[in-house]
Amino acid sequence: MPERKSKGRPQPVRLLGIETSCDETAAAVVEDGRIIHSNVIASQVELHAPYGGVFPEVAARRHIEVIGPVITQALSQAHIGVSDLDAIAATRGPGLAGSLVIGLNAAKGLALGAGLPLIGVNHLEAHLYSLFLLDETHPVTFPVVCLIVSGGHTEIILMLDHGRYRRLGATLDDAAGEAFDKVARLLGLPYPGGPALERVARNGRAEAYRFPRAWLEGTYDFSFSGLKTAVLRVVRKLQPELKAGLEPPRPGLPIPDLAASFQAAVVDVLVTKAVQAVKEFEATQLFVAGGVSANGALREALRAASPCPVRTPTPDLCTDNAAMVAAAGAARFLAGQRDSMDIDVLPGWTLATLSG
Ligand SMILES: Nc1ncnc2c1ncn2[C@@H]1O[C@H](COP(=O)(O)OP(=O)(O)OP(=O)(O)O)[C@@H](O)[C@H]1O
Ligand SMILES: [Mg+2]
Repeated sequence: MPERKSKGRPQPVRLLGIETSCDETAAAVVEDGRIIHSNVIASQVELHAPYGGVFPEVAARRHIEVIGPVITQALSQAHIGVSDLDAIAATRGPGLAGSLVIGLNAAKGLALGAGLPLIGVNHLEAHLYSLFLLDETHPVTFPVVCLIVSGGHTEIILMLDHGRYRRLGATLDDAAGEAFDKVARLLGLPYPGGPALERVARNGRAEAYRFPRAWLEGTYDFSFSGLKTAVLRVVRKLQPELKAGLEPPRPGLPIPDLAASFQAAVVDVLVTKAVQAVKEFEATQLFVAGGVSANGALREALRAASPCPVRTPTPDLCTDNAAMVAAAGAARFLAGQRDSMDIDVLPGWTLATLSG
């Protein structure tokens, strides 16, 4: 993390981060992009569980209800007021437009009222900066290969410096987290599917079913939709009375074996491609971020195969949070970024376009 210096002494930089890109309303106060003073997350999981996925309109309404209290709580837990901050950072995209707008507008209101700079943050860059919130005993040297594995994205990024990215590859269809969620639903597991599927997979045999791996040779791209269909085909074969895999499976389905075999196929492809990128670009570290980076099987396999150290976020920083937004915002603030009050949300914002 670059430092702000005054007369040779680094001055602390305190940012309030705000995150509302999907179904978590979050606010956090972070110092110097790495010391977390507060990290408040109001999850909407129970609201969306009946739909088996995020219902955008419901998400936006809940953000409106809780954004104020969440920000107040983040400031009070950090024992500071708005006037003690150096800037306000909020997620600008990618994400759901109706959700993003709530957090960004709250940030604009606070920044305008307190005369503070506003920093619009890219949500995927924020996931990567969750890894700068860890410690300073192992400073990062570039280039770093980043594997972003979340509910909406699966990408391999070459990080050349703070704010400089090259996208090496991405999923052509489903994101890894989306595949976990869809297969979990198929197996009748509760929402959100990823953690539930990992739990049952612990009691299953990864070699029970040989599910396909889409290698897409010569690229760093991914494809998970065929894998999901392969699981569906096996479920239908075992329980032909099920209609299109839409109803919960009947008792007797070998759920742990199916879950473990599916997870092994996802992990296999993610690890192979990430390690290949590390070797090709002689990366000093491998960063893994996003909700699926919480997966123990993925972490273990990456650590076993990677020739360089693997950095993963602490469990609470894997999924959406505002501490990572404040951390990414701090790097941007120190690099001189100041956004105007006219900025709008960017629901389809890619990370590669940030490098300019
Ligand atoms: N232990 C786990 N194993 C596998 N997947 C997991 C695990 N924990 C969480 N996930 C998955 O992570 C995803 C949520 O991650 P995250 O909050 O980063 O995604 P998102 O914010 O919805 O998407 P994006 O960041 O791409 O906008 C879900 O798909 C969830 O199932
Ligand atoms: Mg996310």
